[in-house]
Amino acid sequence: MSAFDKINLSKTPKHIAIIMDGNGRWAQQQGEMRLFGHTSGVEAVREVLKGCVELGVEYLTLYAFSTENWNRPKEEVDGLMNLMVETISNEVEELHKNGVRLHSIGDEAQLPEACRNALIAGKKSTAANKKVNLILALNYSARWELIQATKSIAQKVKEHQLEVADINDQVIHVHLCSKDFPDPEFMIRTSGEYRLSNFLLWQLAYTELYFTDILWPDFTKEDFYNAVLDYQSRERRFGMVSEQLT
Ligand code: FPP
Repeated sequence: MSAFDKINLSKTPKHIAIIMDGNGRWAQQQGEMRLFGHTSGVEAVREVLKGCVELGVEYLTLYAFSTENWNRPKEEVDGLMNLMVETISNEVEELHKNGVRLHSIGDEAQLPEACRNALIAGKKSTAANKKVNLILALNYSARWELIQATKSIAQKVKEHQLEVADINDQVIHVHLCSKDFPDPEFMIRTSGEYRLSNFLLWQLAYTELYFTDILWPDFTKEDFYNAVLDYQSRERRFGMVSEQLT
């Protein structure tokens, strides 16, 4: 019996965010170069995306490249950028067939031109799709995002378009690069690391967190279903007490 059969399809999270960690260790365990782990991780992305279509998850945000990842050896960074270009270009047709719309968050202007172009083309050709929104966090970090939002709010205050007293959750939200998406209800991190690594720090304030030892390239659709089942066993109280929820 698959974990899928135990999932309550009327209570699946609308938005799931994933830190796809462990590609490098997975490759090293097999005596391969780290890049082989990233390439193999693409299959796990396909599996999880299919899982989202089957479960009716509307938004999937994947942490594909952080602003800190530039500090990795040049060979790995170049390889990762090529992999992004190749994957986005090769998968667009399949994304389109499955009703997936591509988005990205992050400092896109600093990405190599080929990567920017692949993203622009991928977003354009999937723009009308409505089943799943696939959001790639590329050259993203939450502190970068919050600094951009702060600058833009400060500018509006300076130009008298906004009063300091009116700054609230919603004002911050609309200045984030993720403004078009709801906050994730569920965040998965693979590979046994228990950190947020500068990922969606504002948006994850009330998110249920799930950590698994499985390395990303080994993460299957069944593992994804099991994670969602775990989510469904939790009580989300948002600062209230159990009795208030019923
Ligand atoms: C972290 O593992 C993973 C990454 C920095 C890259 C993830 C990217 C992919 C799986 C490619 C997906 C492509 C698209 C277009 C969605 P790590 O290298 O930090 O692993 P380690 O902790 O074992 O070293």
